[in-house]
Amino acid sequence: NSSDNDGGGGRSGALSSPPVMEVLEKIDVNPPKGTRDFPPEEMRLRNWLFHNFREVSRLFGFEEVDYPVLESEALFIRKAGEEIRDQLYSFEDRGNRRVALRPELTPSLARLVIQKGKSVSLPLKWFAIGQCWRYERMTRGRRREHYQWNMDIIGVPEVTAEAELISSIVTFLKRLGITASDVGFKVSSRKVLQEVLRRYSIPDNLFGQVCIIIDKIEKIPQDEIKRELNSAGIAEDAVFDLLQILSVKSLDKLEEVLGSAGDAVADLKQLFSLAEKFGYSEWIQFDASIVRGLAYYTGIVFEGFDREGKLRAICGGGRYDRLLSTFGGNDIPACGFGFGDAVIVELLKEKGLLPDLSLQVQNIVCPLDQELQGAAATVATILRQKGQSVDLVLQNKPLKWVFKRAARINAGRLILVGNSEWQRGMVGVKILSTGEQYEIKLNDLD
Ligand code: HAM
Repeated sequence: NSSDNDGGGGRSGALSSPPVMEVLEKIDVNPPKGTRDFPPEEMRLRNWLFHNFREVSRLFGFEEVDYPVLESEALFIRKAGEEIRDQLYSFEDRGNRRVALRPELTPSLARLVIQKGKSVSLPLKWFAIGQCWRYERMTRGRRREHYQWNMDIIGVPEVTAEAELISSIVTFLKRLGITASDVGFKVSSRKVLQEVLRRYSIPDNLFGQVCIIIDKIEKIPQDEIKRELNSAGIAEDAVFDLLQILSVKSLDKLEEVLGSAGDAVADLKQLFSLAEKFGYSEWIQFDASIVRGLAYYTGIVFEGFDREGKLRAICGGGRYDRLLSTFGGNDIPACGFGFGDAVIVELLKEKGLLPDLSLQVQNIVCPLDQELQGAAATVATILRQKGQSVDLVLQNKPLKWVFKRAARINAGRLILVGNSEWQRGMVGVKILSTGEQYEIKLNDLD
């Protein structure tokens, strides 16, 4: 009914009267499925969380970066058959370019590192907090849009980098009141699988694809995994060995199976020894079944999990030494992690660790009659210049209403601007927590 609009709602002969707005179909007031609004209380929680992300990044000497939410689709198309590929929000823009809402930040980071080329000195220690989009089937803590805190170290091939990254996540969790009995990290290395593949002379270019298939092991039946591996070109006996090794839960056992010559065991041993020095040994455990679902990881991989096993992964990351060359750049060793804003909030709720983040305004300033609105504005300005937050009552309201509002915004003081006081350059103050009341010179107010 909006197409044959004659500008006047169909009325004739009423040229001088304003056009009547047509009532269109009622809109759905919910945000699109899987996305969120952030009304004030949610926004306070988000800001608090992001503040902690930033503080921890600062403690570790990282610099903040950001990238566009909209990227060229090609950045996210990898051949390995990842889930993330099928979840892409992609479309053609008005200039016929294939674009996508980013599902993660790492490809953008790689793009920027390639673009900067030799102008940057390594290592780079970058962090970002950005919104990511994935068309997911929704479960608790999984959404179609989420924010991710990422920390990445570019230019360090040594395991010291992974150890540093895990330390930063532990530091973050401890700040929030989470302990090693709430959360743990499962750690492995993709080099474990690679060493098995090499034993069977399976070409390296199948590596990413094999990892993606194996990552699905908890979601689909083992027979299906075997079939997929077979059709990727992995022979029966290699498949057997690959699946066998996933059940290894200790480094000693791993060393028994793989021998001590390869990098996998050496890397992991070094990581566990560094964890002791950093002081987070009780948080981490070796688990060969951790592979992660992104094709680009090449070495150590890890994920944070809640020990009660109620929630999905809290965070995840690893080493990706060969991502840059897939975009035509020169490879630089790199590792990092992504930490979502959703699962952690669920965990904080479970543990009763959500902070009290009610609105707090230091002063509420109220004129006692309408003529004093300007005087109240002056008082508010003086206080704000001194760095104090002020809720200025903008309408003529009875005192009862003002007290109610003061309680709602947790105001510390009520400042009343009344006629006789104002004549003498004074205002009335009421300390709301104690009820104490006094008059004070405007100039002495601070
Ligand atoms: P990822 O494992 O796909 O890794 O995601 C990292 C984290 O983001 C997850 O552990 C989870 O906290 C959060 N997350 C992912 N998808 C969702 C979702 N649909 N809803 C809510 N939270 C979600 C990456 O994205 C890698 N790029 C991380 C990385 C950075 N690796 C190296 N550097």
